[in-house]
Amino acid sequence: MNENLLDKEISIGSRDILVTRTDHAGIINYGNDAFLRISGYSANETIGENHNFIRHPDMPKVIFHLMWKSIKKRKNITAIVKNRAKDGSYYWVITDFKTQEDYSGAIKDHIAYRRAVSKSALEVIEPLYKTLLKIEKESGVNASIIYLNRYLAERELDYNTFIAQLNKKIPFTEVWSKKIKTLFS
Ligand SMILES: Cc1cc2nc3c(=O)[nH]c(=O)nc-3n(C[C@H](O)[C@H](O)[C@H](O)COP(=O)(O)O)c2cc1C
Repeated sequence: MNENLLDKEISIGSRDILVTRTDHAGIINYGNDAFLRISGYSANETIGENHNFIRHPDMPKVIFHLMWKSIKKRKNITAIVKNRAKDGSYYWVITDFKTQEDYSGAIKDHIAYRRAVSKSALEVIEPLYKTLLKIEKESGVNASIIYLNRYLAERELDYNTFIAQLNKKIPFTEVWSKKIKTLFS
């Protein structure tokens, strides 16, 4: 696995939907073409891997803690995530996590559907995640859970509603300005 980091953002097109599916423990068993194209991996490199192999170190642990807590209860959750591509560059996505059960009601798999995030959402999320990461480094994940819960309670929102409000429709101009930046970078 490539641990390098590049300060280079990969732009996600407005029509791109990056899908992966894992078993109950987060081991990848499927990734669609858009996921492979954006992340830079081949199907062989991803299948059988723990999903944390694309984790970006800028991501606070508390977000994954919240996500796992929710999907283990079979509750869908939407989260904004920064991922690392194979070459070390990064991409932001808004991800809907869904759980599928087998005939007996046991968890069969988890599926993640990722789309582009609006710039306005990232203006709120980036500083919030930086604060959460700093708290985690200084005082541990329990402290960042407390901080995030207080942050949401002050806004009278749960994480899902908070994210949904942040990522209302992405303006067309924003998608094209991102594409043009990528072309000339
Ligand atoms: C369906 C599914 C999709 C996931 N997608 C991502 C992802 O895009 N990026 C990521 O960093 N973690 C993703 N995860 C979470 C990882 O399994 C892992 O919890 C996370 O990367 C944090 O790593 P850690 O648990 O080793 O701290 C996903 C998990 C599931 C079940």
